[in-house]
Amino acid sequence: MRNFIFYSNTININGNFNDIHTNRIDIAINSIIHAFFISNGIRKHINFNLFINNSDYRLIKIESNINTPWSKKDILKLLSLSLIKFNKKKIKNPFPGIYVDKIRFIDLLNSYKENNIYLLDRKGEYIEDVEIKNPVFIIGDFLGIPKEIKKEIKDMVIQISLGDINYFSSQVIMILNYYLDRMDYYKDYWDTSYKFKYG
Ligand SMILES: C[S@@+](CC[C@H](N)C(=O)[O-])C[C@H]1O[C@@H](n2cnc3c(N)ncnc32)[C@H](O)[C@@H]1O
Repeated sequence: MRNFIFYSNTININGNFNDIHTNRIDIAINSIIHAFFISNGIRKHINFNLFINNSDYRLIKIESNINTPWSKKDILKLLSLSLIKFNKKKIKNPFPGIYVDKIRFIDLLNSYKENNIYLLDRKGEYIEDVEIKNPVFIIGDFLGIPKEIKKEIKDMVIQISLGDINYFSSQVIMILNYYLDRMDYYKDYWDTSYKFKYG
């Protein structure tokens, strides 16, 4: 499994988004697109944890599922409905492959005790000098991971770097997927090209 944890400091947990830029939810959406979608296909082994810490905690876990009712154009609506259904009716599995909960960051990391947890940080060890095995990757949003959280999880994570360029979160995910593709690590995808046949 390819596990990603995206840490958001700003997304509204109420699920009311006016547009794609509300509280920079676009960054999470671009990251989700680059985690799952390839040209004419959807990756089969992705587990994407959108963790939100903004007035309260929320976790939206998205697991590869061919029955998730989405395309890369309507992820905003899917996230919005998922949060609203959880907040109003405590629905934890609003759509196939989507799970919502209220959980602390440390408890999320504790649920990955069997994995190696890699924190993406420019100042970490260069990725090619580290063994990547059974990974969970933590990626920050445009504000990065808060200092106090970094301190709290210091002994649980291995800090790795992609080099000295400060990439967008979504670019980091794309690079990681490419890196894992080169390792032949859970590379399969569903071919969705049948949806795009014209004429
Ligand atoms: C746009 S950057 C965040 C910038 C933020 N001001 C900071 O300094 O953390 C988004 C996230 O991508 C990851 N990232 C960006 N460039 C990276 C690099 N060269 N190596 C490792 N991780 C990187 C980090 O997890 C970062 O929190």
